[in-house]
Amino acid sequence: MRPISAPCPSLRFRRLRRTPALRALAQENVLSVGDLIWPVFVRDGAGMRDAIPSMPGVNRLSVDLVVEAAADAADLGIPAICLFPYTDPALKTEACEEAWNPDNLANRAIRAIKAAVPGIAVMTDVALDPYNAKGHDGIVRDGVILNDETVEALVKMALVQAEAGADILGPSDMMDGRIGAIRDALEADGHGDVAIMSYAAKYASAFYGPFRDAVGASGALKGDKKTYQMNPANSDEALRLVERDLQEGADMVMVKPGMPYLDIVRRVKDAFGAPTYAYQVSGEYAMIRGAALNGWIDGEKAMLESLMAFRRAGCDGVLTYFAPEAARAIRRGL
Ligand code: PBG
Repeated sequence: MRPISAPCPSLRFRRLRRTPALRALAQENVLSVGDLIWPVFVRDGAGMRDAIPSMPGVNRLSVDLVVEAAADAADLGIPAICLFPYTDPALKTEACEEAWNPDNLANRAIRAIKAAVPGIAVMTDVALDPYNAKGHDGIVRDGVILNDETVEALVKMALVQAEAGADILGPSDMMDGRIGAIRDALEADGHGDVAIMSYAAKYASAFYGPFRDAVGASGALKGDKKTYQMNPANSDEALRLVERDLQEGADMVMVKPGMPYLDIVRRVKDAFGAPTYAYQVSGEYAMIRGAALNGWIDGEKAMLESLMAFRRAGCDGVLTYFAPEAARAIRRGL
């Protein structure tokens, strides 16, 4: 605790809030377009765009439209796009083989973006849920999510994503040991330059609801993900997970969800000083967008305030469905 010294009688904090110029000089943090990572949902077909009812303004896009979206994002200066496939239910199995099909939807999208828009970094999701008949991030047997079998599957999945041209792999599955296993396999396979952003502190959260609708996982998923995702009551555990993932070879670490977990971001950044990110997840997007559409808050101001809060908490960047909108607002000087 900082001791409270005798007050300076003329201490007036409002002096530096008086004009825009003085406020700019006293501003501690900046939100830039370069801090944004844009998650997008991919579907099959061509020229297809479907709205996601629980995420107004967000669409599932076929690969050709994802390429256009990536080009627009690159023009705005957004450094990275993160792909989430909506998989045909007929391709979902208990062994999740579609996850490591080199021609699955996600891998086709990676190749198409890297061919047309080479400058934007492509990030992937490494987890089995889009391909799993059981809707879980891991392989399920007798109702149990199997750790080590899942890690073997994730390694195969990560290698085909790297082969397709992904710049950043995002293991979001929360199995133990997957970062080290993926890192070793990448090195052995000539993909030593591919970065890993570990979903290191990922909580079992109700804020993922709209996402599961968007990728079509809600129907398949029975029960919850509490045996592998973190208990929202825990904080020390997040530091131990981040430390473990950095030791195993993660280049970047993520906290997820974002806004309710900014205390975790701050602890992680202070403890390790590693490149630190947060995911403003689907439910957070839905809250801001939903309230704005009802006329209850100013959506643009709330969006920018929420994103600045991530920077203030210590994030180097944020995954946000608002990325293009935020980029346009930042460029307008808002
Ligand atoms: C799945 C995954 C999830 C999200 C990203 N990757 C959902 C989950 O864990 O159930 C959530 C993202 C969001 O809610 O925006 N591996």
